[in-house]
Amino acid sequence: KGLRIADKGYLNTAVMRSEITYIDGEAGILRYRGYPIEQLALHSNHLETAYLLLYGSLPTKDQATLFEEEVLHHGVVHSDAEQFFRSFRYDAHPMAMLTSAFAYLGSYYAEANPSLQGMYILSSLLGWLTPGTDDILCTGQTLYTKGSPESLAIMDKQILRLIGKATTLAAMAYRVRQGRDFVTPPTGLSYTGSFLYQMDHLGQENYVPNPVLERALDVLFLLHADHELNASSTTVLQTGSSLVDPYSAIAAGCASLYGPLHGGANEAVIRMLISIGKPENVPAFLEAVKRREKVLSGFGHRVYKTSDPRSFIVRKTADEVFKVTGRDELLETAMALHDAAMKDEYFTSRKLAPNVDFCGLIYRAMGFPLDFFPVLFAVPRVVGWLAHWRQMMLQDGGVKIWRPRQIYVGEGKREYVPVDQRV
Ligand code: CMC
Repeated sequence: KGLRIADKGYLNTAVMRSEITYIDGEAGILRYRGYPIEQLALHSNHLETAYLLLYGSLPTKDQATLFEEEVLHHGVVHSDAEQFFRSFRYDAHPMAMLTSAFAYLGSYYAEANPSLQGMYILSSLLGWLTPGTDDILCTGQTLYTKGSPESLAIMDKQILRLIGKATTLAAMAYRVRQGRDFVTPPTGLSYTGSFLYQMDHLGQENYVPNPVLERALDVLFLLHADHELNASSTTVLQTGSSLVDPYSAIAAGCASLYGPLHGGANEAVIRMLISIGKPENVPAFLEAVKRREKVLSGFGHRVYKTSDPRSFIVRKTADEVFKVTGRDELLETAMALHDAAMKDEYFTSRKLAPNVDFCGLIYRAMGFPLDFFPVLFAVPRVVGWLAHWRQMMLQDGGVKIWRPRQIYVGEGKREYVPVDQRV
C-alpha cells in the first residue's frame, strides 16, 4: 500500500544521513570529512586518513602515533589462520579467500560469536574486554549502545582488528597462491610498507620495500579508502543493520566489491586491454562496445558525470611508479582507448569518463598478479566500510533494520496441482 515506484539500482534513493564523504558528481569533487581528496593525496597517508574517516577529524601527532601502533599491533593473526588459508584450492581467487577470511575472523572473537560467550564472560572477568555484564546476550544487539563507553571500546577494538588484520590476511592469500610460507608482520614499517614486506619478503635480511612504490600504494589506498554509499558500503550497512558482528558485515561488503562492475573492474580493465592488444585494435573494440557486445571497463560511474577526481591522482601516481618499474606496454593501448572514447559521441553523450580503476596499470607495473587487484581495492576500503558501519551503529535513535519493499508482479492465487496431473 502506498508503494508506487521501484527504484531499480537505487538511482534515486538516499538511505542515510552521513557526515563522512561528500561527492559532487557534476563538478568532479570528492572530499573526506570536508578535506579535498587532492590535499589528502598530497599531504596525508592512509592511516591518518583512516582516522579522519572513522572519527571525523585529523588526528593530533599523539593520536596518529597511537592509532598506527594499535593498527599494526593488530596485524598479527592466530597461527590457525595458516591452516585456514592452506585449505583452499591452489588456484583459489584471492578475493574468495579474503572474503572468507573476514567471516572466519568472526569465529575468533567472542564478542562476535554467541557460541564463544562463555569465553567472553571469562575474558571480561579477567579484564581482557570491558563489557557490562548485561552485554553478553547476543551479537550486536546489546553491545553497541550510543553513549556507552563499553560499547565504544568494543567497537573501536573491532575496527582496529579489522584494519590491522586486513593486510595480513590479504598477504596470506597472496603467498598461499605461490606456495610460499607466511611472514609475520614486521615491526618498524608503515601500514603499506608492512603489507609489501609480508607479500614480497623472501628471507633477505634488512628487507626494505622500495619507498616510491610504498608511497604510491599508500596514496592508492587513501584514494580507495571511502566513496560514500557505493555497492559494497551499502552491503555492509544492509548486512550490519541486522546487528550482526562487523567481521560478517565486512565479509559481505568484500563479496559485493568482488564483482566486475565494482572492485573487480580494476582486474577487468587489464583483461580488456590485454584482449584489445595493440592500439590499432581500439576502434574495432569500441564498435563492439557500442553494439553492447563488450563493456568498456574502467569507464563510467553512477555519481561522476564529468570526471572522477581520483583518476587524475592515479595518472600522477602512475608516472612516479613507471619511473621505477618502467612503462607498462599496455599503456599505449590504454591511452589510445581513452583518447578515442573521449572523442566519440556515443561515450560523451552518456557522460562516460575514466574512473579510478585504471590504477590496474600501476598494480601490473608493480608486479601484482591480475586477480589480486580487487584485493588491493578491498583492503583500504575496509576503512570506509567501518566508518559507515560505526556511524550507523551510533546514529540517533539506534539502528533500523534495512528491509526494503518490493512491488509484486507475479501470479495471483493458484491451486496446487499434483505432479501426475501437470501438463
Ligand atoms: N561501457 C559501455 N557503456 C556504458 C558503460 C561502460 N563502461 N557504463 C555505462 N554505460 C552506458 C550504459 O549502457 C547506459 O547506456 P544506455 O542509456 O544507452 O542504456 C549509459 O551508459 C548510462 O549508464 P548506466 O548503466 O545507467 O550507469 P550506472 O550508473 O547504472 O552504472 C557503472 C555505473 C560503473 C556500473 C557502469 O558505468 C559500468 O558498468 N562501468 C564499467 C565497470 C566499472 O568500471 N566499474 C567501476 C566503477 S568505479 C569504482 C567503483 O566504484 O567500484
